[in-house]
Amino acid sequence: MHAPRLQDLEPSVQSFLDDVLEGLTEDEKRIPCKYLYDARGSRLFDAICDLPEYYLTRTELAITRDRADDIAAHVGPNAALVEYGSGSSTKTRILLDHLDRPAAYVPVDISRDHLQDAARRIAGAYPGLPVLPVCADFVHPFDLPADLNGAERVVAYFPGSTIGNFGPDEAVGLMAGIAEVVGPGGALLLGVDLFKSADVLVPAYDDAAGVTNDFNTNLLVRINRELGANFDVEAFRHVAEFNEAETRMEMYLVSEREQTVLLDGVEIDFAAGERVHTEYSYKYRREDFAEIAAAAGFSVDTLWTDDRDWFSVQLLVAD
Ligand code: AVI
Repeated sequence: MHAPRLQDLEPSVQSFLDDVLEGLTEDEKRIPCKYLYDARGSRLFDAICDLPEYYLTRTELAITRDRADDIAAHVGPNAALVEYGSGSSTKTRILLDHLDRPAAYVPVDISRDHLQDAARRIAGAYPGLPVLPVCADFVHPFDLPADLNGAERVVAYFPGSTIGNFGPDEAVGLMAGIAEVVGPGGALLLGVDLFKSADVLVPAYDDAAGVTNDFNTNLLVRINRELGANFDVEAFRHVAEFNEAETRMEMYLVSEREQTVLLDGVEIDFAAGERVHTEYSYKYRREDFAEIAAAAGFSVDTLWTDDRDWFSVQLLVAD
């Protein structure tokens, strides 16, 4: 089998450097969370998904499995499935197994290696299905492949509650872009993690085995390797907090001591205890997410959840 043909828009090293320099020279230091996913970061994230504390993946998988017939009925026949991020092949397969004659599968991902692996796996498992991978940062507009094999409807698939890693305004912007990609009557099937108690949330983002610690600190390993910085990775520690008022989990890298790091000729000073923000993960109440959907040009068609009301899979239809 040959590899599926790749439309390659992977961001350059230069934009990585620009983003990191900009974030680390602000008063409240930050690094965009999309850079957590190099090859090792993607592997660590896969390991997080299997952790006992990380309920998200398991719960979304169970909802998708239990409600697959109903989800497929709402998606309809002959749809092109455009997956935002390509790391969720188990859920994708459940969908593809239940959809009525899917026209094409289009995974879109920022990590070229991860994307090509996922595309090859799906192409191998579904020999009759056109697999059309697009390597892009899906936050920015991108073109769908011109030939979607006569699809009657474009359905974006955005599982994993990755939408929660964008702030509400960014989420509206991203989803408005998705509404344009799918067109009027097109749909967005997505996973949305729901608001719940800190007792459940904090361990999910600060696991006993320390995998999330490695995932977060790997950002510094990556910056050292790809951008030639000299972070002492051991001198930073992972912290996860629940901000109840903002309904979000927050991840930081905390400098254990006063230190100076050199990045592209720029000296960056860290005070002892200073934090670098690396990720938000919003946990939505249903009504709050419906407002975001509406602002982006979508209506909530159907919402599926689990017995504990911890996670939701939602089908939104573009106005
Ligand atoms: C990818 N995303 C939905 C994960 C989350 O739960 O926000 C990323 C993650 N961060 C720490 N653990 C997992």
